[in-house]
Amino acid sequence: MKKLEDYVINIPDFPKPGIIFRDITSILRDPEGLKLSVHELMHCLEGTEFDVVVGAESRGFLFGMPLAYNKSKGFVPVRKKGKLPRETVSREYALEYGTAEIEIHKEDIRPGQRVVFVDDLLATGGTAKAAIDLIEQLGGVVVKVLFVMELQGLHGRDALKGYDVEAVITYPGK
Ligand code: PRP
Ligand code: MG
Repeated sequence: MKKLEDYVINIPDFPKPGIIFRDITSILRDPEGLKLSVHELMHCLEGTEFDVVVGAESRGFLFGMPLAYNKSKGFVPVRKKGKLPRETVSREYALEYGTAEIEIHKEDIRPGQRVVFVDDLLATGGTAKAAIDLIEQLGGVVVKVLFVMELQGLHGRDALKGYDVEAVITYPGK
């Protein structure tokens, strides 16, 4: 039987020389790959009590939404700045070059809500940490931080110390 990582197409030297791009669209295009990805994420949540799924724009939406749907929970998006129409809280975080900013609707996380944060990839952990900071700023409790893939060589877990972090696929390098 195929494993989830068998559906990932690895593209060397994209977007720049030396980087191997782990393409998740090759999971999603395949009905069995799509089903398996959601199944694996659901498996990671067995025994976890939670209220809502938060997913990061954009690739985190692709996995967070079906996960929330299948667990009969709501979904709250963390979006790149300037997209959300109601009152937001926002966070800047570092990219390799420069900074980015993400935000979340202020009233969409209530104090004490148990949150599962989902994204496709844990690289440096910058995106996840910024999203977690926003959730906590609103009083949410992050009970699980879930990724489809993790690039261990970028040490993203160091940025997420103290959280229950899980990834379906782990790549040893960058
Ligand atoms: C990618 C990826 C993760 C993040 C991981 O998103 O989807 O969200 O980077 O990197 P980090 O752990 O170093 O923060 P990107 O910002 O490229 O945008 P996208 O999801 O909209 O493609
Ligand atoms: Mg992303």
